[in-house]
Amino acid sequence: MQAEQNELVTRIGPGTSCGALMRSYWQPAALLAEFDPAHDARMAVRPVKAVRLLGQDLVLFRDGAGGFGLLDRACPHRGADLAFGRLEPGGLRCPFHGWKFAADGTCLETPAEPLGSTLCTRVRQRAYPVKVQSGVIFAWLGPEGSVPPELPKLDAFAAPASHSYAFKGLWRCNWLQAFEVGIDPAHPSFLHRYLSDASLDEAATYGRQFRGASAGEVEGERWPMTRVMREFCQPEIRFESVSEGLMRLIAIRPMTEALTHVRMTHALFPATFVIPLSETITITQMHVPVDDTHTYWYSFFTSYTEPLDHAAMRAQRLAAVTLPEYAPRHGRNDGWGFDAAEQATRTYLGMGEDDINLHDQWAVESMGSVQDRTKEHLGTTDKAIMANRRTLLKAIETVRAGGRPPMPLSMPMTAGQGMPPGGPDTIDCIAPAASWEQFWQQQVAAKRAGAAWLRA
Ligand code: FES
Ligand SMILES: [Fe+2]
Repeated sequence: MQAEQNELVTRIGPGTSCGALMRSYWQPAALLAEFDPAHDARMAVRPVKAVRLLGQDLVLFRDGAGGFGLLDRACPHRGADLAFGRLEPGGLRCPFHGWKFAADGTCLETPAEPLGSTLCTRVRQRAYPVKVQSGVIFAWLGPEGSVPPELPKLDAFAAPASHSYAFKGLWRCNWLQAFEVGIDPAHPSFLHRYLSDASLDEAATYGRQFRGASAGEVEGERWPMTRVMREFCQPEIRFESVSEGLMRLIAIRPMTEALTHVRMTHALFPATFVIPLSETITITQMHVPVDDTHTYWYSFFTSYTEPLDHAAMRAQRLAAVTLPEYAPRHGRNDGWGFDAAEQATRTYLGMGEDDINLHDQWAVESMGSVQDRTKEHLGTTDKAIMANRRTLLKAIETVRAGGRPPMPLSMPMTAGQGMPPGGPDTIDCIAPAASWEQFWQQQVAAKRAGAAWLRA
């Protein structure tokens, strides 16, 4: 990739071309849990948070009417920080000279100005539309006055609260390299490899998903995904465009004459992938640029069978991060917890067996805060990454020319190619070599048929 192209696809601040593209989509701004006094005692006193999104400094607050307000953080008077504002009924007041702003940006009062002053009517703070969905507060940073699109029609958003759970984490790198790890089906055979297998009796949990079983059997035996990945490490990677902005990735690992391993995932343009956690739970992971060198991943867990244990999932993920930033405990500062003895004997990478998220974090952060793509040498397994970059460059041009970029799942996914409607779906399975395509489609259909909330 040329240096100019790399700049073009990685810089997302106000006024940049890729920034304009990213502002065409709703972006996750915070977890709803960040405003829960049970998780953050400060929220009982003053539910106000500083938020950085797409290189912009914003302040997010409960508006007192059951919703949220999102404003530029610098006060339009003389620029003091509204994240330290006084939250009052009807709005947020700047503590410097008392100017007060409603959630829609209207200036309500300029109390130090002389009686009869009309200054207030000529001042407005930039406000951004906000919506809450599946435990996440989304923000629309598109051009002022423009109409935001709908959120994509995802199973992750259709599932009831009992069957969905959201969490997030910070990666100290550019958004694109954070996303690209998810459209790279070759890496689990190496990066997430365990040198030996554990019992399959343990339930698959986030961070240990490759310990779980692949659906299907080999001579009556169930295999952990990690064994398949380890023993068959040259996948044939296929990808196809399912509908606008929606790419299906299939990694095929022929195992024997009779059996083939199939792992199917999806990517939604520009920064979301949908992958399996287990046979019945998917992870929909969005990557939102904080600025050019920091990214939050937001994961939506969706269960097609049992309700999810929110408290257990939260406790498990909190073990890996520190609040309030949801910053990982390991990182460049401690070599991501690298252990050479572990690398020699237990794992391919040497950064622990319990949290594959840390493996991905190392991969994307160790490239440098913005990967220099002029120095890389892409191979056959990078073909989905290459295709996505072409789509990205084209979409940046489209927006620059005033057009509409790909809007994945702006309509609900329809049935087709043997697939039931809805999704996007995921699977990790050991299938009959001769009929693997029908096999995974049947597995997906059975999973969907078993989901009570899809029939409701
Ligand atoms: S800087 Fe905010 S009121 Fe003066
Ligand atoms: Fe990974």
